[in-house]
Amino acid sequence: MLSDRPRREADSGTWVRLCRSAEVVSRRGIHFELDFEHDVALFRVDEAIVAVSNVCPHKREALIYDGHVQQGTVTCPVHFWCFDLRTGKNVGSGADLKTYLVEERDGYVWVLIRDLDA
Ligand code: FES
Repeated sequence: MLSDRPRREADSGTWVRLCRSAEVVSRRGIHFELDFEHDVALFRVDEAIVAVSNVCPHKREALIYDGHVQQGTVTCPVHFWCFDLRTGKNVGSGADLKTYLVEERDGYVWVLIRDLDA
């Protein structure tokens, strides 16, 4: 949970450390439920680590991390909406996936969380 995680305050939110960079591998997501509003899924796209909401905007299922990853997209395993992992844009016609800023620092992955109240 959030309370055990290292964090750094920023003007626009809070940077929260999630895991080591090496834990984020190609074609497989991992997720971190930080609080009620922030369930973050990490993926590796080419060499970059990206962070998106783990909660699908279609029916609010928290399974994006378990979606099929291919060519920079992830497909939700529930009803197969597909999203660009870098932008969160829906590849079809539905709502977009929320994205988070990511920073790799000293071998760890940090994400910027806004409106954190923990
Ligand atoms: S819940 Fe993800 S596509 Fe329906």
